[in-house]
Amino acid sequence: MGLLEPVDIGNCQAPNGVMFGPHVTNLGTDERTFSDQHIAYYARRAHGGCGVIVLEGMSVHHSDWPYERAPLASHCAESLNELTAALHQEKCLIIASLDHSGGQGTSAYHQQPLWAPSRVPEVNSREVPKWMEQADIEEVIAGFVNAARIAVSSGCDGVEINAGQHSLVRQFLSGLTNHRNDVWGEDKTLFARSIIEKVRAAIGDAIIGLRLSCDELAPWAGITPDMAVELAPQLAACGLDYLVVVRGSIFSVEKTRPDFHEPEGFNTDITQRVQAVLNIPVFLQGSVVQPHMAMQAVEQGVCAGVEMTRAQIADPDLANKMLSGGTAKIRPCIRCNQTCQVRDARNPIVTCVVEPTSGHESTDPNWYTQVASKKVAIIGAGPAGLEAAYTAARRGHLVEVFEQRNSAGGVAAFAGPGAAFVHWLYEQCLALSVQFHFGVCVDEATNHGADVVLQCTGSRPGVPTYALPDHTAAIDVVDVMNGSAALPESGDIILHDPIGGPIAIALAQWLGERAMLITPDNIAGNELSRSGDLAPANVRLAQRGTRVVKRALVRSVIKSGEGVSVEVQDRYSGETTTYGAAAFIDCGFRLPTEHISTRFHLVGDAVAPRTVLEAVLEARRAVFML
Ligand SMILES: Cc1cc2nc3c(=O)[nH]c(=O)nc-3n(C[C@H](O)[C@H](O)[C@H](O)COP(=O)(O)O)c2cc1C
Ligand code: SF4
Repeated sequence: MGLLEPVDIGNCQAPNGVMFGPHVTNLGTDERTFSDQHIAYYARRAHGGCGVIVLEGMSVHHSDWPYERAPLASHCAESLNELTAALHQEKCLIIASLDHSGGQGTSAYHQQPLWAPSRVPEVNSREVPKWMEQADIEEVIAGFVNAARIAVSSGCDGVEINAGQHSLVRQFLSGLTNHRNDVWGEDKTLFARSIIEKVRAAIGDAIIGLRLSCDELAPWAGITPDMAVELAPQLAACGLDYLVVVRGSIFSVEKTRPDFHEPEGFNTDITQRVQAVLNIPVFLQGSVVQPHMAMQAVEQGVCAGVEMTRAQIADPDLANKMLSGGTAKIRPCIRCNQTCQVRDARNPIVTCVVEPTSGHESTDPNWYTQVASKKVAIIGAGPAGLEAAYTAARRGHLVEVFEQRNSAGGVAAFAGPGAAFVHWLYEQCLALSVQFHFGVCVDEATNHGADVVLQCTGSRPGVPTYALPDHTAAIDVVDVMNGSAALPESGDIILHDPIGGPIAIALAQWLGERAMLITPDNIAGNELSRSGDLAPANVRLAQRGTRVVKRALVRSVIKSGEGVSVEVQDRYSGETTTYGAAAFIDCGFRLPTEHISTRFHLVGDAVAPRTVLEAVLEARRAVFML
């Protein structure tokens, strides 16, 4: 059996075992329906060869409105019909995800109490839910049945019931959240079993899948892998056609799709155990982004298929590239979680740092249409320069890249999770015959005979926000990361981090007990909440013995003997403290590099220092306009 071979699921057949899992996209309409953007988003993955697409979860009942643009099943018949009509032009199976987030939702939108098995407060919002009464339970079960009918009559091949992260069904199954002493608590499987049986009766032989948290990572009361191996067959016997193994509980929402700090394929062992006790296809989920890992899992009998959600947000053609032997051409997901995780205060739509057209399929052009060839010179081989070179070469231009350092990748090659991406881009450029010139500084007078020059030279250190009489007292974080500045071999190192992003945290973690991180915020790595790494990052720092000085502003950095003396002021009390250290590293805001010539088009951080996403997007736009 192989991942790319057809998989029988119930009475249907998926063309292969690659799944695009259910995820919040924020592409929905204000009326809580699927949108044209949804159709374009899913059609792109279907066209890219995906075997099974599980749509964004639909709330099965009006008591659930977990985020502003969450689809509501009873509103979705018409939009689902349009969606399935568009997707069924491809071979993939289309599965509707049936959701109720129970006590993990919010009352912010429907202004009603949350419904949950027991009164366990939501861990982040601290909202206390209402204990569901018998009538509430019956209504929600009926909601699952109605939603399943709507999905199947609107052209879906089946439904997937969510008992994974953020789900009422899991809350009933788990001792963490089900403290009832009525029938629904005495038999914690009753709610899930009732739903599966009633949905089965309602939709005949259409597919029913279950997304099941098989490890709540809370063994004192939660579902454990040993329990899951008992639970899965009981639930399957009620009428399931497939099961997806996930993990996580109310205390570990970030563990379901963690970022790059967690190992890849972390659910492999438990998935193999669950597949061994079931005779329906089981899907492996959880940070499987590399084709060889997914193929190996199926070949070794761990599972029948593999969910590769972020991998297909990063490259919608993943399955087709695997099928045609072109795995080297797959744009790699770097598991950064920076822009595909959308439930944050900015309320953005789903997109991807390495593939910004994700989520924008209905508005972005085809970046790679062929045009009359020009000679394009690109200054700088960081993410913007490499993406510009790649896009230009694919459009048929003759491309030369001039980089002052001796290697490609820029800051991304050393800092954060982007190294794999810039390495991939560089390899693609070489395959497209882009010429690289390393160790070359370009000045105003040179354009190397090019028709057009793109300046992708990135950023430079910012202006210090503190007194710095001798600028050599502060080391630029980029120089540390790329190895051009050596740190003293012993003594404390102070890191100044007014940004709260991943770079200073990674360095502080690496330095461990030697590091003292100074932040103006109340927590280290304030901005990591968006990628789900805020709490894990603080745990890692604590475990490594890193000291964190919070609510603090650096006022001066002065050379002192072999090291530095750093004056820091508390933002609340105004009190100042002076710390001595062997070195001071500035991880603060940066400035664009100087514009070399007004004839050169600026791209990425050379316009304004931001992230890899803006570098990639602006590189494409600049090349598209040539
Ligand atoms: C943006 C985003 C939002 C997600 N939202 C949900 C969700 O609402 N419900 C759910 O069960 N899983 C959700 N997931 C988890 C995915 O279904 C999938 O299991 C997860 O991304 C792990 O697979 P991967 O490592 O292949 O990306 C989400 C994932 C992403 C990337
Ligand atoms: S934003 Fe990051 S984690 Fe999300 S799909 Fe893109 S590369 Fe992967």
